[in-house]
Amino acid sequence: MQTAYYTCRLQVPKLNSLANKEKAMHKDIEKILVSKEELDEINRRLGEQITKDFEGKNLLVVGILKGSIYFMTDLTRYINLPLKLDFLAVSSYGSSTRSSGSVKIVKDIDIDISGYDVLLIEDILDSGRTLQYVSEMLKTRGASSITICTLLDKPARRVVDLHADYVGCSVPDEFVVGYGLDYDQHYRNLPYIGALKREVYE
Ligand code: IMP
Ligand code: MG
Repeated sequence: MQTAYYTCRLQVPKLNSLANKEKAMHKDIEKILVSKEELDEINRRLGEQITKDFEGKNLLVVGILKGSIYFMTDLTRYINLPLKLDFLAVSSYGSSTRSSGSVKIVKDIDIDISGYDVLLIEDILDSGRTLQYVSEMLKTRGASSITICTLLDKPARRVVDLHADYVGCSVPDEFVVGYGLDYDQHYRNLPYIGALKREVYE
């Protein structure tokens, strides 16, 4: 039987409208804090380090939705090891820029984590409440180890004593968006991390 070959006809995006969309989001940005190129460099550095540190381990990478999705997908491409992926979703912000203080699990991990070396992936470590709650909860489930990796760290706002094992970079005490991080669910698809203009949320 003859194999049928199909030509993949890529839908060419309308560049003008994409550029306009990005411009519409970009106008709300005060300044770019971490560029696309710097994000790639961070992912490469962390991925190479994690590859060394987790050699021979039973790696389960758990992303905290939704903010970590871009970071998690790009970072794991630099982790040169067998691994599994899972997600959990928490809510603590609503549409405000300040944490409500109470963390709720909205979607739990599907996999039984006992015996896994869990690498938690977070977009930003702010007050520390989310990661403290999640890591304490996962500790009770028999994981071999729990390690925290955050793209951004905002140390000025910490209210609990929590340190990440891997940090992409520190940011000043400003509300940041892009590359997964949102304000009221917007701006996640900006290709960089930027400080949001205060007039947008004040
Ligand atoms: P924490 O529990 O206060 O550490 O908050 C962590 C969560 O708050 C992160 O996962 C983010 O979703 C959100 N968050 C904290 N700071 C920012 C920010 O500057 N921009 C966007 N989201 C933020
Ligand atoms: Mg988050």
